Amino acid sequence: MTNIKPHGGILQIRRKSESDTSDINKEMTVSKWTISDIELIGIGGFSPLTGFMGEEDYQSVVKNLRLSDGTIWSIPITLQVSKEDADLVDIRDRVALKGEDGITYGVLTLEAKYTPDKQMEAQCVYGTTDEKHPGVKRLIESGDVYLAGPIVMVNRPNHQTFENFYMTPKETRAMFSELGWQTIVGFQTRNPVHRAHEYIQKLALESVDGLLLHPLVGKTKKDDIPADIRMESYQVLLKHYYPESRVKLAIYPASMRYAGPREAILHAIVRKNYGCTHFIVGRDHAGVGDYYGTYEAQELISWYEEELGMHIFKFEHSFYCKKCDQMASMKTCPHTNDERFILSGTKVRELLRNGKCPPPQFTRPEVAEILVKGMRWKG
Ligand code: ADX
Repeated sequence: MTNIKPHGGILQIRRKSESDTSDINKEMTVSKWTISDIELIGIGGFSPLTGFMGEEDYQSVVKNLRLSDGTIWSIPITLQVSKEDADLVDIRDRVALKGEDGITYGVLTLEAKYTPDKQMEAQCVYGTTDEKHPGVKRLIESGDVYLAGPIVMVNRPNHQTFENFYMTPKETRAMFSELGWQTIVGFQTRNPVHRAHEYIQKLALESVDGLLLHPLVGKTKKDDIPADIRMESYQVLLKHYYPESRVKLAIYPASMRYAGPREAILHAIVRKNYGCTHFIVGRDHAGVGDYYGTYEAQELISWYEEELGMHIFKFEHSFYCKKCDQMASMKTCPHTNDERFILSGTKVRELLRNGKCPPPQFTRPEVAEILVKGMRWKG
C-alpha cells in the first residue's frame, strides 16, 4: 500500500451531482484551460486546494511558493476573467462555470474578486515577462480580473479515446494498494517516450515497485505532438518494452504551463496526490525554448524535497552513445556529442512531418512508426 499522504494531509475531493446545485444564480463560459483546473480540483489532484485561489494565497504562492498557511505550492491556480464578466457577478453568487459546449463543469461560490499584477506574476512564476513564452502569453492575453472561492465539479470532461486510461487520485491509490506497490515513481511527460525517457524511467524502476506513466493530455502548445498520437505510442511502447506487471499508464488531464522549475514542483505535488512516493525530474523539466537552465528545475525542487516527503530522482541529460554502445548520460559517458544521438524536439518534429523515422537509437521503431503515421495525418 502506498502510504504517502496527499499534499496537505487529505484528498480534497470536490464533486457534486448537478441536481445538488439548484441554488446557482449566475453563469459564465470558461475556457478549456479553466475546465482542466476545475477537474483537477474536483478529483483531488490539486489537494489541498478546494477552489480558485484568493488574493492572500495568490500573493503568497507568487512570492514565496507557499499557500498562506505555509503549505508548499508553486503555481497560482486562478480563475481569470475579463473585467466585463467580473462585473456581472457579485460576492456570494453561485456561478455555473460552463464550457463552450454548454455543459456546466463546475460551480463557484464567489468569495472575492481581485486584480493581479501580471508582470510580477510572470516574472516570479515563469522567470520572464517575455510574451513569446507560451505561459506568459496566455497569462497576459487572458482576463484582467481573478475570481476566487471554493468550487465543486458537477460534470467531468469526457476524454473520449482516453477514457480507458482515466484514473482519479483515489483510484490510483486503490490500484497501488491492490498491486501491493509501496514505492511508486511518477513520470510526467508532454512528449512521446523516446529512448532517453525510457532509460531514466527504467533506471528509477530498478529501485521502486512500480512506475506510473502519467502523460499530460490537457492543453499544450500547437507544435507539441497531439495527445491522441502520443497515447497510441505509449501503449505500443509498453507492450513491447516494459514488464506489464510493473507499469501503469494513466492520463494527467491538466494543461501545460511551461513554467519549468516551478511547474516541476506542481507536477510532483500532483503525483503525490495520485499516490506516487517518487518523481522523476530530468533535464529542463517542463521547459520551453531556453528560458530555464538545464538543471534549474532539479535545483529548485531539491530545496523542497524533504518537506514534500517525496524522493525526487534527478537525472542528467541522457542519450544513446555509439562508443559506449548503450544509453548513457553526461554523468556516465566520457565521449563527445559526435558519438551521441541527440535530437532537438524541433528536429524530431521536422523528421516526422517529412515522413522520416528518427533513428532507433533515439526512438523505438514501433513508436517512430506511430508518430510518422500520426503526424502525416495531422499535417
Ligand atoms: S515535460 O513535461 O517535462 O515538458 P518531457 O517529455 O520533455 O516533458 O520530459 C519528461 C521528463 O523527462 C522530464 O522530467 C524531463 O526533464 C525528462 N527528460 C526529457 N528528455 C530527457 C533527456 N534527454 N535526458 C534526461 N531527462 C530527460
